[in-house]
Amino acid sequence: MQNHAYSFQDRQYDKSQVTYKSGRDALQNRDSNMNWKNAGENSLYGWFRTLVVELVLATVGLRQCGSIRFLRTEVHRKLLYLLCNPWVISRRFLNSRGEENAQGYGETPLTTLASVARRLHLSPGDRFVELGCGTGRNCLWLADRYGCQILGVEQIQVYVDFANKLARRHMPDCKVSFVCTDMFELQMSEWDCVYVDCTAMSKSCIRRLALLCAGLPNGARLVTVNAALADLMPERFQVESVFPGLFAWGWSEVRIHRVGPPL
Ligand SMILES: C[S@@+](CC[C@H](N)C(=O)[O-])C[C@H]1O[C@@H](n2cnc3c(N)ncnc32)[C@H](O)[C@@H]1O
Repeated sequence: MQNHAYSFQDRQYDKSQVTYKSGRDALQNRDSNMNWKNAGENSLYGWFRTLVVELVLATVGLRQCGSIRFLRTEVHRKLLYLLCNPWVISRRFLNSRGEENAQGYGETPLTTLASVARRLHLSPGDRFVELGCGTGRNCLWLADRYGCQILGVEQIQVYVDFANKLARRHMPDCKVSFVCTDMFELQMSEWDCVYVDCTAMSKSCIRRLALLCAGLPNGARLVTVNAALADLMPERFQVESVFPGLFAWGWSEVRIHRVGPPL
């Protein structure tokens, strides 16, 4: 349930205009700041550059962050997507909704996720939700490493099915699960930590996200990539830290917000 008691700093946002289908709007990219599109599949150079950066990041990330259990999970995940990679699945999903040339997929490198997790000081008692969790790698890594309760929310069914399969097979003792739904349908009041990569989101979708996350309990932490929610709702989100995170397309701003009024 969204909390509509909150409003935006610039006061120009009419909440009654929130009528679009969220994912669709998020991924139309007309006014989004998405940039892996430029680095991704659209040119041979871009595709090659992304591949090289991904390989380097994956190698460094796995060396730095991997347990044997997570490595097994990761190899299994790669095998599941061997014949149809997540970028293609995402593009087909978006095309089926009428999005031409839409690209809504990208992964947070483990090195960047690790620096987020270090700053959050996660503990097994935390309740963590990732909005738009993709193939679930972040959630699986966090569950393996920190043992907290984790929910991955994703709109593409096949990602969710595979992620649940990986969790059941490799981490049956971990409290990690995945659900296929629109993130904007989620009840936010029960979560302590939220991670959301907003790189592919339109500005209107980021505003809708701010409304959704305003429903988090006071004291919760909200991590966003490429979205300054505190600028939109200073009465509800306070910036705890901002730091550069490395992604396949280059550096992006990662923000950790504390939810609640200014201290
Ligand atoms: C950029 S990817 C990020 C994947 C993962 N969070 C990561 O950082 O590695 C964004 C994901 O959010 C999903 N998504 C976008 N809008 C959504 C919505 N309204 N509800 C649920 N998932 C959504 C997309 O399908 C995509 O898999």
